[in-house]
Amino acid sequence: MELNRRTVIAGAAAAGVAATALGGTARAATGRGPVKELFGTLADGTKVHRWSLQNGGTRLKVLSYGGIVQSLEIPDKHGRYANVSAGFAALEDYVASSPYFGALIGRYGNRIGKGRFTLDGTAYQLSVNDGENSLHGGAKGFDKRVWDVEPFTHGSDVGLHLYYTSVDGEMGYPGTLRTKVTYTLNRHGDWRIDYTATTDRATVVNLTNHTYWNLAGEGSGSIEDHELTIAASRFTPTDAGLIPTGELAGVAGTPFDFRRAKPVGRDIRAGHEQQVLAKGFDHNWVLDKGVTATPVHVATLRDPRSGRTLRIATDQPGLQFYSGNFLDGTLTGTSGRTYRQGDALCLETQHFPDSPNQPSFPSTVLRPGQTYRTSTVHTFGR
Ligand code: GLA
Repeated sequence: MELNRRTVIAGAAAAGVAATALGGTARAATGRGPVKELFGTLADGTKVHRWSLQNGGTRLKVLSYGGIVQSLEIPDKHGRYANVSAGFAALEDYVASSPYFGALIGRYGNRIGKGRFTLDGTAYQLSVNDGENSLHGGAKGFDKRVWDVEPFTHGSDVGLHLYYTSVDGEMGYPGTLRTKVTYTLNRHGDWRIDYTATTDRATVVNLTNHTYWNLAGEGSGSIEDHELTIAASRFTPTDAGLIPTGELAGVAGTPFDFRRAKPVGRDIRAGHEQQVLAKGFDHNWVLDKGVTATPVHVATLRDPRSGRTLRIATDQPGLQFYSGNFLDGTLTGTSGRTYRQGDALCLETQHFPDSPNQPSFPSTVLRPGQTYRTSTVHTFGR
């Protein structure tokens, strides 16, 4: 699917697109790309490419390895650009030690307890890679696979289709899962992700993207002063291994209440037992809107200094807010600065963790003949 030569498909997206007013400032149409370049080579000789595209003031760089968002640049209130997604400058770092920076996650976002579940009477044992549990699809999830990439321009949209087929039994999951993910930048600079998957045997699936945000720019310090809003009255408390207990707990009167905009750091040291277990926030919020047919706005992140904002809309019922608790100063990011605890955060749209073992949670089962579909839209402002 991937083209063999350097490919430039420009013009169509840029042509005829009117300047868009955003944040009071007219932004010239900038639809450009996708442009392909070599990013690195894996140990087995597989070449990894980086695709660059831009539209409506957003500049995106995506790797064929893991569908990773390697860079996402947006302007601040003065028009100054920064890369607001944590990542690495070199492929070797993604292979050696990435905590899922920018990556597509599959087959199952977040944890499945003991890596086990039973479906239609058959017990399955998954790859276990997080203590006794399976995290983000197991030891070699979709974040570590090379995807086939197909660029497109469609009207004023610019984007990439990414394809990966996971064979029956891969990481312990049943069924051949054919996955297609589309990244689109529209003329307003919104980044939309559309996921589809089909299977030839009953299986479970929960796809997401693991971009780490720092709206002041990656490597610029803590996200504790970012203001966050999450439209959720409940969250799913966990055990010590971060597996949901099955309870849906109210956020009212707890540090987990983000129904009104609140700095991430305000209550992060409140000593709530759930925060102590997770070393901060690392939980699934139960979105009040539930599963919806189309994306609905569920979260807003704002950096007061730069003015940059991110709004997230999704059709999914859950949002994993992870406050970068495991960043420990051992990784050096894209611009050469060290990432310490809380230097970036994730907002992963998803079905709830461990759903295959939790009959009361919305189902993640996919059967032959059905198509798994989900969409998430990221809208940027300043
Ligand atoms: C998810 C998990 C976290 C952590 C990160 C990756 O957000 O919930 O516990 O594993 O991924 O480091």
